[in-house]
Amino acid sequence: MIALCTLLLQLHATNFDHDWRFHLGDVPGAQAVAFADSSWRRLDLPHDWSIEGQFSEQNPAGVGGGALPGGVGWYRKIFSVSRADSGTVAYAEFDGVYRNSEVWINGDYLGKRPYGYSSFRYELTPHLRYGAPNVIAVRVDNSQQPNSRWYSGSGIYRHVRLVTSDPVHVDQWGTYVTTPSVTDDSTRVTIRTTLRDERRSAQRVALQTTLYDSAGNDLARLSAVVDVPGDSVVTIAQDFTLPHPVRWSLERPYLYHARSEVLCGRKVCDTYTTRFGVRSFVFRADSGFFLNGRPVKIRGVCLHHDLGALGAAVNTRAIERQLEIMRAMGVNAIRTSHNPPAPELLELTDRMGFIVLAEAFDMWKKEKTKYDYHIDWDAWHVRDLSDMVRRDRNHPSVFMWSIGNEVMEQWTNDDSTAAPIARELAGIVRALDPTRPITQAANNGSPRNPVFHAGALDLLGHNYHHEVWADFPAQYPGAKFIITEAMSALNSRGVYEQPSDSVASYETPYVKNHGPQPNKDYRLSSYDNRKAFWGSLHEESLRLFERYPFLSGMFIWQGIDYLGEPTPYEWPARSSYFGVVDLAGFPKDPFYLYQSVWTDARMLHLFPHWNWKPGDTVDVWAYTNADEVELFLNGASLGVKRKPEVVSHLMWRVAYAPGTLQATARRAGQVTATTEVRTAGAPARVALTADRSRIRADGDDLSFITVTVQDSAGVPVPNAEPLVRLRIRGDARIVGVDNGDQISHASFQANAIRLFNGKAIVIVRAGNRPGRATLAGEADGFPSTTVTIRWNSRP
Ligand code: GAL
Repeated sequence: MIALCTLLLQLHATNFDHDWRFHLGDVPGAQAVAFADSSWRRLDLPHDWSIEGQFSEQNPAGVGGGALPGGVGWYRKIFSVSRADSGTVAYAEFDGVYRNSEVWINGDYLGKRPYGYSSFRYELTPHLRYGAPNVIAVRVDNSQQPNSRWYSGSGIYRHVRLVTSDPVHVDQWGTYVTTPSVTDDSTRVTIRTTLRDERRSAQRVALQTTLYDSAGNDLARLSAVVDVPGDSVVTIAQDFTLPHPVRWSLERPYLYHARSEVLCGRKVCDTYTTRFGVRSFVFRADSGFFLNGRPVKIRGVCLHHDLGALGAAVNTRAIERQLEIMRAMGVNAIRTSHNPPAPELLELTDRMGFIVLAEAFDMWKKEKTKYDYHIDWDAWHVRDLSDMVRRDRNHPSVFMWSIGNEVMEQWTNDDSTAAPIARELAGIVRALDPTRPITQAANNGSPRNPVFHAGALDLLGHNYHHEVWADFPAQYPGAKFIITEAMSALNSRGVYEQPSDSVASYETPYVKNHGPQPNKDYRLSSYDNRKAFWGSLHEESLRLFERYPFLSGMFIWQGIDYLGEPTPYEWPARSSYFGVVDLAGFPKDPFYLYQSVWTDARMLHLFPHWNWKPGDTVDVWAYTNADEVELFLNGASLGVKRKPEVVSHLMWRVAYAPGTLQATARRAGQVTATTEVRTAGAPARVALTADRSRIRADGDDLSFITVTVQDSAGVPVPNAEPLVRLRIRGDARIVGVDNGDQISHASFQANAIRLFNGKAIVIVRAGNRPGRATLAGEADGFPSTTVTIRWNSRP
């Protein structure tokens, strides 16, 4: 027993995130072992240096890139490897570095990876000093700007691991699990395992693969004896039959796992775990998407990778919170626009039950911004695309691959530019994963779009132009459709222009090209009445999407505001207006439109707030999934509005009087929901509310604390914008503050936050030993309030 444990411990992936030294700026020769880095800042990864910088119009990324700095940064880490490990091989695995990373070990160059969203690894073995200190150095170059249409972040912004194993082991991303035939009675599970032999000579090993259910019970085991040629790889297929499989579904995302053991004689040389799910799905030209035989409308959102105030630095809880908010809105799908995501996102979507469209690129050979990936296209696209598919093809939540977003090649008139690239990319994906359809997101909806004619796509992916959706079946007979992008409706949270019935559409960049500002405050109404000119209001496209069964799915641009691309504004705006949820994670009003159409729970949402001036006329809107709503002002009925057949809001134009606006929703005469909005008095206190007051003591978990201001009766004051000063006591840190305001230039890393339309968020990170912390918030004239967060090994 003891011997076996020792053998098993020889192979492991260790967290390599801690104790790096960082320097912002280029330092020639910083890869040298003897380089003195003691004055460099000490930090843990993941790290994004851009989010720590100052917003400025002068930053070369421009407002498109979030008006935050790029530049060059260096990271160094000293680590030791025990003498006992000298027979093993070692790799440094990087989940993602933005961008142009170069890595050295003990002064020796390992390589460069331009694309900031790819995962990669380097073998360290021949360069390591066993029983002595080793130095790994990483230079990150995000200085060529602009290179992105959105905020990218800069640095080693995803996790890093040190992996050591026997020279014979399962290769990186070395398993591929498919379930070629799934019925209620049984499923075949085929596992292709690629073994790598780092020795010069061939090795005879046994590959033993065991399948487990989600509770960890073993279900089946197969063994094969394999000769792995020296310095080479070999792939072995093993076929299992699982009786009565439990399907992975959105309601019950059931996960199996396979454990691969490589036995070198009696010794276990390597173990490797692969989670997978059993599900069947099909896209039909006339009736859309079917999961496990049942029709499912793919109700999705596009998400960029930044995490608001945390920047691009990956944090599992922050991603999970985003997904929870999306789920509450009724969303069941995510498009990883426009690049491969952090591995943590897909682990969460597997576990939580989302459908993922995984996308590789925002451009091919033709540029969108001067220094973007088109520069690296020729040398890297095969590798980057292949690595995305090889890394992510076991995730049951991944259902489709996208080979590009709105690539410029779609606008070429001949078939010799776009089509060969589309065919090449689709060929790469299909060779690695024939089990999922391939799409591409096109905003050239013309039937002459050369990408559609390339014969490369399984699903025609369209962005915007809902006015032509109805024509698709006639224009492309037999084709399958997905709306890869829709909406681009524009809102700021809690801003209500009155009266609000006029629809405005804006071009970008509005300020540069089109004269006067649409709104001098750079804030857009929260009513669903503002849109990009190529886009639509939320109601418009949602109405059509729900109507056409041939549309298998739709992805809203965007689920959550992101840093950068503040269309229709230029500076001083620096983050997007497209989200249904603001950058801090607070829903804007259209969130409830989706909830009313995409969820079954009885709901009623009433807006705006009820703090106006005497004599004002106010448009009161309601979203509900009931049949009718009656509105009352201070007890007097303002009338019943019936919900129309089509997706829509209800509206009353009301002469303002302070007091209580109350609404009652009814279905078939029965009250299904009530809600009210009250006129708030003068601000009297700050209120702090934690999303979770008990979190995990892993040094990584977060509590998101909402800050509001209330009057003396506890009514939230909707327009209050005081500066709230924060103090934390205990082994915890404030790692981010935000209020969702697209034009704020305050740092996200501060001990104070000004509320925006009555709200702000404070993000607190726990320590890694059980403990507690108390956050106090205080504003001029109000007493201080506190909230306490506790963390244990289990929340
Ligand atoms: C789309 C594009 C997105 C975003 C959006 C804004 O055309 O694919 O990345 O730029 O427009 O409306």
